[in-house]
Amino acid sequence: MPEDTAPHPMDHIPVRPLAFDVDGLAGKDPVWSRSCPEFSILLNALGLHVPYFERYLIRVLNRAKAEVQDPKLREAMSAIIGQEAHHAKNFLAYNKFLGLTYPKAPALDDAARDFFVEHLKIDTPRRQVGFTAGYETFTFLAGMIVLDNYDAWFSDSEPTIKAMWVWHQVEEVEHGAVAFDVYKALYGRHEWYRKYMIAVALKHIVVETVRAYFHMCKVSGFLRNPWRAWRSTAFLASTLSRMAWLSLPVFSRKYHPRNHPLVTDRQNPIAVGWRNFEGKGGDVLAIDREKMKTILRAG
Ligand SMILES: [Fe+2]
Ligand SMILES: [Fe+2]
Repeated sequence: MPEDTAPHPMDHIPVRPLAFDVDGLAGKDPVWSRSCPEFSILLNALGLHVPYFERYLIRVLNRAKAEVQDPKLREAMSAIIGQEAHHAKNFLAYNKFLGLTYPKAPALDDAARDFFVEHLKIDTPRRQVGFTAGYETFTFLAGMIVLDNYDAWFSDSEPTIKAMWVWHQVEEVEHGAVAFDVYKALYGRHEWYRKYMIAVALKHIVVETVRAYFHMCKVSGFLRNPWRAWRSTAFLASTLSRMAWLSLPVFSRKYHPRNHPLVTDRQNPIAVGWRNFEGKGGDVLAIDREKMKTILRAG
């Protein structure tokens, strides 16, 4: 099926209870992309705090469900909660794998957990839904950026970790409108606050990612020579800037994630193929070059 006639990815969001062989990664290099080693460190750094955000999202949306009347939105809320629960389970196990190499990873992991547990206690419901919607703006955009750069960033990489990230990014795009719709349904009259919380969430993502990224680069030896250190810094700066740049339409009053061109007329062929392949029972727990060819043929 050509991408431009594929069903809209945000219709009928499935919950896929996938369990990756994270234990089998023990002893492997956490710099898992040979195509772009900096990219693997960036995703490792970004991913460290994400499972705790996902658990926070689950609690926030579960509470918000009591206020939401629209049955379609309630169904989508159940789906995002299911998807994020499986993300958190797999990526918390992955954090333990990162801890085998990076001495500061367990402390960063603990700090991320404490931050989100604390903010579930102290923040108002509006701030919690606003932060969730703001944060999901970037997981949605990152989902599309990452899949669009597959050849440069993923083509030669460890099959299980690649499979985890392809799965995660496909699902972030599928549920990329749900938190936005919940905010609009409950607090739509506070449009300025929605925009403010996008900036708050971006700052949080950047601070957490930069902290972990430079620790991981240092441990992996990327900061030992000036050229490599510059290249690592430039990759981080350019990728985060691109994410911030792509988020600009989100500040428009007319914005809706469903209408983003990357999920309508320019759907990513990997995402389309992956959804079809997995939907027919295909094994997506490890993706090597041959498996990716099969996935693309399913599109
Ligand atoms: Fe997620
Ligand atoms: Fe998400």
